Amino acid sequence: MSIDYRLFIKPLVFTACLLPVAWLVWALLSDRLGANPFEELTRQSGLWTLRFLLLTLLMTPLRELLGRAWPLKYRRMLGLFTFFYASAHLLTYLWFDQFFDWQEIFTDIVKRPFITVGMLAWLLLVPLALTSTKAMMKRLGRKWKRLHQLSYGIGLLAVLHFLWLVKADLREPLIYMGILLALLGFRLWHRRRQQFPLRRGKAVADLSS
Ligand code: HEM
Repeated sequence: MSIDYRLFIKPLVFTACLLPVAWLVWALLSDRLGANPFEELTRQSGLWTLRFLLLTLLMTPLRELLGRAWPLKYRRMLGLFTFFYASAHLLTYLWFDQFFDWQEIFTDIVKRPFITVGMLAWLLLVPLALTSTKAMMKRLGRKWKRLHQLSYGIGLLAVLHFLWLVKADLREPLIYMGILLALLGFRLWHRRRQQFPLRRGKAVADLSS
C-alpha cells in the first residue's frame, strides 16, 4: 500500500504557521522577551503579520514561475494566518498599550499617522478574511478577484506603517518594502505580458514583411 505524502503537507504547513505564536507565548511565559515583554510582543506580532502578508502575495508569482498550481492551494491558508497575526497584533496594542481605554485609542488612531495607517490595513483585511471561503468565492465570481486585489493596497499600507513608526534605522522596513514592490512589480509585468502576448512576435513579423 503506497502512502500519498501530499496529504500531510497541508497539515504540516498549518502547524508551521502556528510556530511563531507558539514561540511568542512560550517566550512570554518563560520571561525571554526582554525588559519590555509586551512591547516586544507587539513588535514581533507586527513583523509576523507583514511576513505572512508577503508570503501570501508570493503564491501567485510562484505559480507563474514554477508553472505549477500547488502554491495557490496555500494562498487562502496564508491569507487567513495574516489576518490571525494582524488581529493578535491589534489585540496586544489595545490591551497592553492602551488597556482598552477606548477614548485614548480613538485619539491615538486620529493623532498618530502610523496607527491610522495600521488600523486601515487591519480594517481592509476584515472583508478579505470574511470572503475567503470557497462558497463566497463562487458567490462573488469576478468581484471576488477584484475585492482580493485589496491585498496589494494592504501591503503598501503595512510597509508605510512600518516606515512611519521607525525613528532612525530605516533598513528593515526598506527591505520589506523592496520585497513587496518586487512582488507587485512581477504581477504588473506578468499582466502586461498576458495582455500583449504577441507583441514581440508581431513586431518581428511586421519588420520582415
Ligand atoms: C496589516 C496590519 C499591520 C501590519 C502588517 C503591522 C506591522 C507592524 C510592524 C512590521 C511593526 C514593527 C515591528 C518592529 O518594530 O520591528 C509594527 C509595530 C507596531 N504596530 Fe503594527 N501592523 C499592523 C496593524 C496595526 C494596527 C491595527 C495597530 C494599532 C491600531 C498597530 C500598532 C502597532 C504598534 C503600537 C507598533 C509598535 C510601535 C513601536 O515599536 O513603537 N499595527 N506593526
